Amino acid sequence: MSRKPIIAGNWKMNLVKSEAKDLYEGIKNFVKDYTAVELPTVVIAPVFTSLSVVESIPCSCGCGGNKISIAAQNCHWESSGAYTGEISVEMAKDAGCDYIIIGHSERRQYFSETDEMINKKAKAILAGGLIPIICCGESLEQREAGETDSWIAGQIRAALSGISSEDVAKSVIAYEPIWAIGTGKSCDADEANRVIKMIRSVVSEIAGSSAADSIRILYGGSVKPSTIEEQMSKSDIDGALIGGASLKADSFNDIIAKTMKVAVASV
Ligand code: PGA
Repeated sequence: MSRKPIIAGNWKMNLVKSEAKDLYEGIKNFVKDYTAVELPTVVIAPVFTSLSVVESIPCSCGCGGNKISIAAQNCHWESSGAYTGEISVEMAKDAGCDYIIIGHSERRQYFSETDEMINKKAKAILAGGLIPIICCGESLEQREAGETDSWIAGQIRAALSGISSEDVAKSVIAYEPIWAIGTGKSCDADEANRVIKMIRSVVSEIAGSSAADSIRILYGGSVKPSTIEEQMSKSDIDGALIGGASLKADSFNDIIAKTMKVAVASV
């Protein structure tokens, strides 16, 4: 089963509108030379206030894909109402988003997001016709205590609870060990692949083998141009969720180029 790779840039709380526009233009300028068939699924996730200066770019080759797709970094599960500071799935869609990142460890840690909230968000996103990018990952303490697999399996079971196999198949998961995020210390590629295979087997238990074959599972945590080729050469790593290295067009474009190179080499 060949899964189309995803290269997703999580801009976190960075870049005012003019800076976001410059970065977007730098990526746009790179992807213009390729079709969406050649490119990985390229996703960028700016802050909400910069969604107005980016837009998805449909491919003109007739493939029906996008050269760039837009993600929100968070959403609420209710459609509207008294939730100060939140945005709904419909609002994200209205602002041009096709994807929404949920359950990032920074949101779990600093904003007390629980597995239950992440499950409600995943359901709302899928019901609204968008795709959730569901993040999971262990802390250094959990890894050292040998709890990595059981912890992550629990996060995945909770996040996907009550979601149909069809919806699971189109979702995206990002495995992001917390100790690797923003530290410059990427997880060993074989180990990341092992954990991602384990996640795929949990998805298979929950939603069946066809959904497990289809779902795209990314690695995140200090991904850089110098790490992506090895990561993308692994059997179960379907792409990357990138923070720091997605904030400069040069490094993000280099990651996209290297992902295409690995894809071509593996045909
Ligand atoms: P990083 O962030 O690439 O800066 O480690 C990844 C993420 O948090 O999604």
